[in-house]
Amino acid sequence: MSDIRITNARMVNEGVVSEADLRVRDGRIDAIAPQLDARAGETHIDAAGRYLLPGLIDDQVHFREPGLEHKADIATESAAATAGGVTSFFEMPNTRPPTVTAAALADKYARAAGRARANYGFFFGASRDNAAELAALDPRSTPGIKVFMGASTGDMLVDEPAVLKDIFSRATLPVVTHCEDTPTIEANAAAWRARHGDELAAHHHPEIRSADACWQSSQLAVDLARKHGTQLHILHISTARELELFSPGPMQGKQITAEACIHHLSFDDRDYASLGNRIKCNPAIKSAEDRAALLAGVREGRIDILATDHAPHTRAEKEQPYLQAPAGLPLVQDLLPALLELVARGELTIEQVVEKACHNVAERFAVAGRGFLREGYCADLVLADPAATTDVDDAHALSKCGWSPFAGRSLRGRVDLTVVNGEIVWRDGALTGAIPGERLCFDR
Ligand code: DOR
Repeated sequence: MSDIRITNARMVNEGVVSEADLRVRDGRIDAIAPQLDARAGETHIDAAGRYLLPGLIDDQVHFREPGLEHKADIATESAAATAGGVTSFFEMPNTRPPTVTAAALADKYARAAGRARANYGFFFGASRDNAAELAALDPRSTPGIKVFMGASTGDMLVDEPAVLKDIFSRATLPVVTHCEDTPTIEANAAAWRARHGDELAAHHHPEIRSADACWQSSQLAVDLARKHGTQLHILHISTARELELFSPGPMQGKQITAEACIHHLSFDDRDYASLGNRIKCNPAIKSAEDRAALLAGVREGRIDILATDHAPHTRAEKEQPYLQAPAGLPLVQDLLPALLELVARGELTIEQVVEKACHNVAERFAVAGRGFLREGYCADLVLADPAATTDVDDAHALSKCGWSPFAGRSLRGRVDLTVVNGEIVWRDGALTGAIPGERLCFDR
């Protein structure tokens, strides 16, 4: 691995944009200074005023391994991640088998070793009957405990009050939740089926997976966390109303945090007409007003973390009729370009992007030595050009599923270089072949 010297960068870090050079040595950030001199044998990259950011940490991806490798696997999806500026990911437990035992967790770490292009952590799933496994969990082995408080892909629903009380009262590490109230969804589905029969289509999804279903479940999660003092992070908030459950301002010191995902910030219910099942996901993409409120929530600090919920399904699966088509969309390759598009529109600032897709994720989940541009930290970096565009099409999708919901869109922002642990993994539109991903350390 050669040293890397990046010069003339506009470095975005800890709320400030500054002109700086940065040197990488032995996988770490060796120096950051207004000007760094050349050294023999190094790789020199002239950033020419482009943004230099800490690599993004996506805390919510589904890479489908083991058991669903026809959709995706750790090797393919981690490659797609690096193209999207993501240098670390936390993967979800709704695989087959689900990650609800220590053995299943160990199996995932073993599968990722030597195959992941980005750094990896795996969530541990709560089930109806794995209380003993949860109690024995090493807090350093996982970013947190995932609870599907609403049913989604996989059979992982946990909504019995006694089980939820047990999980929330005993958890020694962050609990992250998927919040949608399943009885509400089932009642809506029955009513909509009776009314529309075979005419049911993707645009009905936000009426079935309704705003009320989200509100009820998110409110319950917040109540439980307050009652039991749980560290709670609610994933993929999708409605304006839920925002009132979260406090504005900086994340530091909060017991309850919230997340928004790029699809809920980039699409709204008008897009079902052209994209149909391609944007069917749980929680559903809702109204333009919800989307605008979520963006305001990010700016106010009610939303602390930005992520993807990257959830690949094959084209053939998505082309089935609405009721059969699985929920979820592949997003990880588009994360930074889509966030830069929101910056170009004036919806977010580049400092907010770095705060919520890098710094806050590292702090919330105690990721050691990453998420910031600091001397001594791991060299996970992204060089991005806000003046260039990413023309998204299915042909360029690196995810095994081979498509993107952003296909046909031109996003104002492009990932030119991604460095993981000091190795260049993505450069000028191509993977380099390096596979430097490491297991993440959770410093607790
Ligand atoms: O749309 C979704 N797809 N939401 C989830 O919660 C799960 C995900 C999947 O795994 O496909």
